Amino acid sequence: MKVAIVGKGGVGKTTVAALLARRAVALGRQVVAVDADPDGNLASALGVPEQDVPEPIAAMRELILERTEAKDEGAGLIFRLNPEVEDLPERFSVSAGGVRLLVLGTVEAGGKGCMCPEGAVLKALMQHLLLRVDDDVVLDMEAGLEHIGRASARGVDAMIAVVEPGMRSVRTATRIRQLARQIGIDAFFFVANRVRSAEEEAALRKCLAEEAMLGVLPYSEELARADLEDRSVEAAEATLAEPVARVAEGLEQRMPRHASAAAG
Ligand SMILES: Nc1ncnc2c1ncn2[C@@H]1O[C@H](COP(=O)(O)OP(=O)(O)OP(=O)(O)O)[C@@H](O)[C@H]1O
Ligand SMILES: [Mg+2]
Repeated sequence: MKVAIVGKGGVGKTTVAALLARRAVALGRQVVAVDADPDGNLASALGVPEQDVPEPIAAMRELILERTEAKDEGAGLIFRLNPEVEDLPERFSVSAGGVRLLVLGTVEAGGKGCMCPEGAVLKALMQHLLLRVDDDVVLDMEAGLEHIGRASARGVDAMIAVVEPGMRSVRTATRIRQLARQIGIDAFFFVANRVRSAEEEAALRKCLAEEAMLGVLPYSEELARADLEDRSVEAAEATLAEPVARVAEGLEQRMPRHASAAAG
């Protein structure tokens, strides 16, 4: 399945993306985790040592000019809108505990997206991963709504908005849901994260549609400590196994056509 993890800043998108990607690998699937946040840290959540974190594709100027055959024609830049990208996931991903991590970076541009060589390569790469690759894909998106304007996750099977106890994150998630619909993403779900009490859970459940709520991840000391010590989410997996499984299975049950069979 191809999912994008979205939501307000700091709610736990990267953590949830890492946990879901690692669980899928543990079940024998091939998983590409994509860091699509310009200020991303999915590598750290997956335990990739600093020196092994790949350079974002968007920053590979030479590669981008080569693939788009960009030429300055005086009157403006001419470049291909459909560059070849099939080899890039293999070439530029690193393996982290069985998850293949691809760091995209983002083109700094407002509005409807960037009509520039970087934008063309990122768009083609994203479409390649979402439409032509069989592996599961987990996209860790940048915080907020802006990426919807660029429609960079168009083509995902589902979007999961992470919310935390607090109406601000609920409002952001709800806004993203409305915008997602406009770009044709109807399968939209919620995961509550960093929940400390039954009261907090009840407050979130009250304002989120029951059928869209995949599950609740409790506050985890291990997760907090892992970030403090710059370690991956692995140490927290034992205590979070059950709620993470419930989220993943909840998604699969709601999307039976897209649930991939575990290998072996
Ligand atoms: N269930 C949890 N229990 C305790 N700490 C958590 C939990 N989920 C996430 N955290 C911690 O909260 C912080 C933010 O998490 P994370 O980086 O995943 O959020 P994010 O939404 O990706 O943030 P950003 O918007 O900056 O990309 C991290 O320190 C992470 O370890
Ligand atoms: Mg993040």
